Amino acid sequence: MRFLNLAAIATTLLFTSFSQASSQKNDDLTYANYDQVKVTHLTLDLDVDFDNKALKGFVDLNLSWTASNESQVILDTRDLIIDRVYAKSAQGHWTQAPYQLAPRDDVMGAKLTIKPKFQAKTLRIYYQSTEKASGLQWLTPEQTAGKKLPYMFSQNQAIHARSWIPVQDTPSVRLTYDARIRTDKSVLAVMSANNEPTTERDGDYFFNMPQAIPPYLIAIAVGDLEFKAMSDITGVYAEPSVLESAAAEFNDTQKMIDETEKMFGPYRWGRYDLLILPPSFPFGGMENPRLSFITPTVIAGDKSLVNLIAHELAHSWSGNLVTNESWRDLWLNEGFTSYVENRIMEEVFGHKRAMMEQALDAQNLRKLVKTMPSNDTVLHVDLQGRDPDAAFSSVPYTKGQLFLIYLEQRLGRETFDQFITKYFNTFAFKSIGTHQFYSYLEKNLLNKYPNKVSKSEIKEWIFAPGLPSFTPTPTSPVFTLIDQQISAFNQGELKATQLPTSDWTVHQWLHFINNLPQNLPLDKMAALDQAYQLTTSANKEIAHAWYLLSLRAGYSEIYDALDDYLIEIGRRKLIVPLYKKLAETATGKEWAQKVYQQARPGYHPLAQGTVDSILK
Ligand code: BES
Ligand code: ZN
Repeated sequence: MRFLNLAAIATTLLFTSFSQASSQKNDDLTYANYDQVKVTHLTLDLDVDFDNKALKGFVDLNLSWTASNESQVILDTRDLIIDRVYAKSAQGHWTQAPYQLAPRDDVMGAKLTIKPKFQAKTLRIYYQSTEKASGLQWLTPEQTAGKKLPYMFSQNQAIHARSWIPVQDTPSVRLTYDARIRTDKSVLAVMSANNEPTTERDGDYFFNMPQAIPPYLIAIAVGDLEFKAMSDITGVYAEPSVLESAAAEFNDTQKMIDETEKMFGPYRWGRYDLLILPPSFPFGGMENPRLSFITPTVIAGDKSLVNLIAHELAHSWSGNLVTNESWRDLWLNEGFTSYVENRIMEEVFGHKRAMMEQALDAQNLRKLVKTMPSNDTVLHVDLQGRDPDAAFSSVPYTKGQLFLIYLEQRLGRETFDQFITKYFNTFAFKSIGTHQFYSYLEKNLLNKYPNKVSKSEIKEWIFAPGLPSFTPTPTSPVFTLIDQQISAFNQGELKATQLPTSDWTVHQWLHFINNLPQNLPLDKMAALDQAYQLTTSANKEIAHAWYLLSLRAGYSEIYDALDDYLIEIGRRKLIVPLYKKLAETATGKEWAQKVYQQARPGYHPLAQGTVDSILK
């Protein structure tokens, strides 16, 4: 009987992994018929035209067919101009291929159907991107730090690759790529590929990415970029005026790589460089392989925000090596990465800091979950046809991380580290979904350690809304102390100037500000501001937390500084909550609209979209 049960389980497991690994379509945010044909390699040949804000040229797509009686290839595009398409036969003959570009869908873009008469080996598409490209930002010289040369960069995740490359825009497909990029001689181009630190600025750049990656990890940036090495295999690309401060802030990158390798296996991508973007970069960072894209808003001068580097680096294992197969499975990328990020921080900066970072994130998540539709608090989220950008939240990050912390606590660190390392090795260079992860977990952990974790608990973590009752609560003794000081401050037992802040780290400040009463009396707000100049804090996270509290408390001294902040910074995580808060009152909204009028031209299309919808 027992044997039979095991056999049944084994059959289910086999069935699940085969059906997932076969050419079934699990991503419904792509038009591509990737169950019939897959792009295995692409070649880009593009001119960077700053005057017209366009990339122009062609892409070659190498195809591998799984269907035998089909020759049509369906690709994703958005706001592209398609000039003409050629198909190359198995015999090497090129012929022009008929194609059809469907009307544009707001979320998915425009389906491009190419209909050669035979199963093409390669397609060549002559095309150009347009000013509307959701995945590109084009900055005038005035919008850059140096004010002399223009800057452009891509941000493909989640479904923006299609706005500058006609491609199967799904993380289920993996491809290698090479590229030839022509620019003005005055600027340097870099990509998520083999950047050579010694590349000469001559306006003709060649790249090669020999490791198979999903299209959301293809990336490009062009600007007045200089390189500074931090170690043999790590370095920074940035505009000249930010280069030194960035290289100093992030000089622990090599140590981070070494520590991650010790815990979770080899770094498999060759070099690891950082590209510092203009402040309009809509994210904190983006894990483009070999070249993470980084917001300058984390260059705080004291390494207080470098967990961002740990995060983007961690994606070299979780996300870039083992990739979510659809955007429903984003937690597989971001939850694992948040977990690994914090483990790196613990190794490089110590347990105390790592716990503070965990506690800050967990507290933010608990607050957020209360305000969200419960469906959206599920790890394996149902996107319901929405743009993945609209469904984006910290749930996949922090709930995912807490789930893994829970597993670590139940199994012990050693067992759990072995499990994760083996997971990375097993699925290296593959794209997988939540169900496939669950089968793997069941086989490699749950069945092996049945007394430590129960299947129903795991299912609750992955498929149920909210936070389970058995969710870990990360705490920090340093924060407990601050909680006591907050209550003494509230009751008037401690004056603002008497708070023992001299040795507070940025994290302690954040915990302090986040936990002050939402309606702190104005005299107390003013006293804090006078004592600690919070309104003009150079730390962008502290300033953010303080502005949010000030808006809640009705403390109006911040408006001039907030005006500058919203114009300078385009990072969505920092600006969106402020616009949302402002939009709650009529006067706030009116003020925000005025500021936004000035700020909008400097924002990235993604940030523009989000703020447009808040202030409309
Ligand atoms: N990959 C994400 C950014 C992203 C996610 C872009 C989903 C588009 C869709 C990146 O690694 C990230 O998570 N950045 C965070 C870093 C933070 C959690 C340390 C950010 O931008 O704030
Ligand atoms: Zn991430």
